[in-house]
Amino acid sequence: MSRADDFQRQGYLVLPGFASAEACDALKARAEELVAGFQPEKISIFTTHEQTRTSDEYFLSSGDQIRFFFEEGAFKPDGTLRQDKALSINKIGHALHDLEPRFDRFSRAPELAELARELGVKQPLLLQSMYIFKQPHIGGEVNSHQDSTFLYTDPPTCLGFWFALEDATLENGCLWALPGGHALGLKKRFVRAPGGGTAFRVLDSTPVPDKGFVPLEVKKGTLVVLHGLLPHKSGANTSPKSRHAYSVHLVDGTASYPEDNWLHRSPSMPARGF
Ligand code: FE2
Repeated sequence: MSRADDFQRQGYLVLPGFASAEACDALKARAEELVAGFQPEKISIFTTHEQTRTSDEYFLSSGDQIRFFFEEGAFKPDGTLRQDKALSINKIGHALHDLEPRFDRFSRAPELAELARELGVKQPLLLQSMYIFKQPHIGGEVNSHQDSTFLYTDPPTCLGFWFALEDATLENGCLWALPGGHALGLKKRFVRAPGGGTAFRVLDSTPVPDKGFVPLEVKKGTLVVLHGLLPHKSGANTSPKSRHAYSVHLVDGTASYPEDNWLHRSPSMPARGF
């Protein structure tokens, strides 16, 4: 069985040792520097529980920027941080792969280009990237979703590369995937609402089963490849250890990119390939 066959059957691949420990550490170090340099003027919280509420302008215009989103549990009732800023950020998004040379090189490694080609991507466009911290104790859960909901093309072509920059375990909130679940089709799209803000547009109201998910406990340096239609999620981090990850998502330039997608990039900075 080839990697492509496994991927078509399961909707995901787990490739241990894809990135070196040094490469993981270099991304971690740069992300930590970026956070240290971030002066929060505006607080934007990332939560999958109330996605529409948090869709403020800071989030909506982050498609071609480097922006910082806080954990929901980071604040005390009076609005001050419970712990140090560096331990309060949920993620950095969404154009590290274009704006930060170290992330650019990592995201455009020849092995990744080869893998995308093997998995059938014809005109790869690196659309979006995220550095995910899954902070100790407060790292929030991410509800079951399909990445094509957020990174939609017609037809759906989203492909996710998720790198464990630290060991991911049940305790610190590893990924869970629904094997074969990509065959269920796309359930909804996250779009810009006509009156401003964002909304979910339901395409198929049949629920995704909540049984059958398997945990993907992986070592640092592992690449998890996710089909854009594969339901996946991750638990809260209840442990004292962080669970840093870096993800980059591609779409195929042969598919159309609808105007009402939430994620926009300015014409001067279109998504590029490898
Ligand atoms: Fe995802």
